[in-house]
Amino acid sequence: MTVVAHTIAEVRQAVSQWRREGKTIGLVPTMGYLHEGHQSLIDQAVHDCDCVVVSVFVNPTQFGPGEDLESYPRDFNHDFALCEAAGAALVFHPEPEELYYPNRSTTIHMAELSEELCGKSRPIHFDGVCLVVAKLFNIVTPDKAYFGQKDAQQLLIIKRMVRDLNFPLEVVGCPIIREADGLAKSSRNTYLSEAERQAAVVLSRAIACGRELAASGERDPHAITQAMREVLAGEPLADVEYVEIVSQACVKPVEGLIDEPILCAIAVRIGTTRLIDNFFFDPNA
Ligand code: PAF
Repeated sequence: MTVVAHTIAEVRQAVSQWRREGKTIGLVPTMGYLHEGHQSLIDQAVHDCDCVVVSVFVNPTQFGPGEDLESYPRDFNHDFALCEAAGAALVFHPEPEELYYPNRSTTIHMAELSEELCGKSRPIHFDGVCLVVAKLFNIVTPDKAYFGQKDAQQLLIIKRMVRDLNFPLEVVGCPIIREADGLAKSSRNTYLSEAERQAAVVLSRAIACGRELAASGERDPHAITQAMREVLAGEPLADVEYVEIVSQACVKPVEGLIDEPILCAIAVRIGTTRLIDNFFFDPNA
């Protein structure tokens, strides 16, 4: 049976009981409007851990002014049904007031890793993500926490925060789940009109192009990103924000040839909807 908790006290009570029973705990943090991408995280967590907590919380501190906090899609009944069917033990669905004191004064600043890619256009985003994820870690005290590679910069940042702040847990990164035509699953795909939805497939085509070039031995980051830009340029509805190859270690652009594990990431606006996609590549693997 899956239970819903709206308060921190309810979560702590359930977690204490599980700990007394010697059970392992998995956490899947989400902002709700769950799709097959989230489901794959929950499935992995249910496979690995005795008890799985899914948090469903549209976190205000990670949205900048003018971003889609108010319009972000929400459907808790659907989310609960998905969590229940997937075998989650508890769904944590707090109000913002439960997580954030009006006079809160503690922040987390992720330096360096948050400066490139999405951090350039969303300067407060990753600090807000770190803050809420750190709070969820303290509330749920999971053994393992699951994040999608779709948000690759976020995944690298959470791993760094866990290392730097000595959280006693393992961060598990899970592969990107795609639609049949290749578009990476995202709650924001629901913003797309029919024509935009068709145009959006250009992101995964650009990613496939870059990945194939890297796999076939191309080591010049500019040659790879240029070829990807050409694919994106073929779609009139695509407005490119960035196409970048960065080091996985420091999330800074790779200078010279690729000789370390990299993240190749893109952000593209299709109409007013900002979409992201990426691939990881290790030249030494
Ligand atoms: O990836 C997300 O959905 C959010 O950034 C997260 C990790 C749930 C924090 O609000």
